[in-house]
Amino acid sequence: MRRPPERMRISVTEDGPYLVSGGVPLVRVEIITNGEGESIGWRQTGAVEASDRYRLCRCGHSAEKPFCDMTHVLEGFDGTETAGHESYAEQSMPIEGPGVQLHDARRLCAEARFCDRAGGLWNLIERCDDPDARVLAEEQATLCPSGRYVLADESKGIHEPDLEPSIALIEDPHLGVSGPLWVRGGIRIVDADGVDYETRNRVTLCRCGSSANKPFCDGSHITAGFRDPSVDEA
Ligand code: FES
Repeated sequence: MRRPPERMRISVTEDGPYLVSGGVPLVRVEIITNGEGESIGWRQTGAVEASDRYRLCRCGHSAEKPFCDMTHVLEGFDGTETAGHESYAEQSMPIEGPGVQLHDARRLCAEARFCDRAGGLWNLIERCDDPDARVLAEEQATLCPSGRYVLADESKGIHEPDLEPSIALIEDPHLGVSGPLWVRGGIRIVDADGVDYETRNRVTLCRCGSSANKPFCDGSHITAGFRDPSVDEA
């Protein structure tokens, strides 16, 4: 994992936005799908101009998305953080395959669906004595934005993608919804009481306001039909 500049930080505020400081780059990305509608990769579609400090909407109702316009006050947004502070190691369970170990923290799933191809990642793991299956398993685990999956290989150790410290606004064109904030490259995240969450290479933060695992995304933006119209103006 990269070490981002010390000053980069995301602070969750009580029933309010994410306060981002330290000049964290803000970009737009979308999920690439194949002809079958399966998620196969990422495409960066633009950058959003942002100052050294900015506030990102967390309730899903701002008219100035992705930024906060204080609508959370009018909406009476309940942003209670329900995720807890367990580490990834505490939240995840291991799945053994030939020469590999997959770790899965289901609670962190952002429903980006990279793990669905070729019968699904859990099944691929069991077939990792086949080099093609192993390559696909590595790809699926590392494309996962939320860090739900971490793949460890007996010979090469833990597979983690090299991610530039930044926040990416996820779009999911196949489902016609906007997704979470993809926090990349080990940026520090602090709760509303000033307590750190575990710093990880990749996590997804809810920006639709509907997650039951706040501040992290739990995929509820799909059933909520969340849309960020600013993507159409970009
Ligand atoms: S953005 Fe995914 S649950 Fe809110």
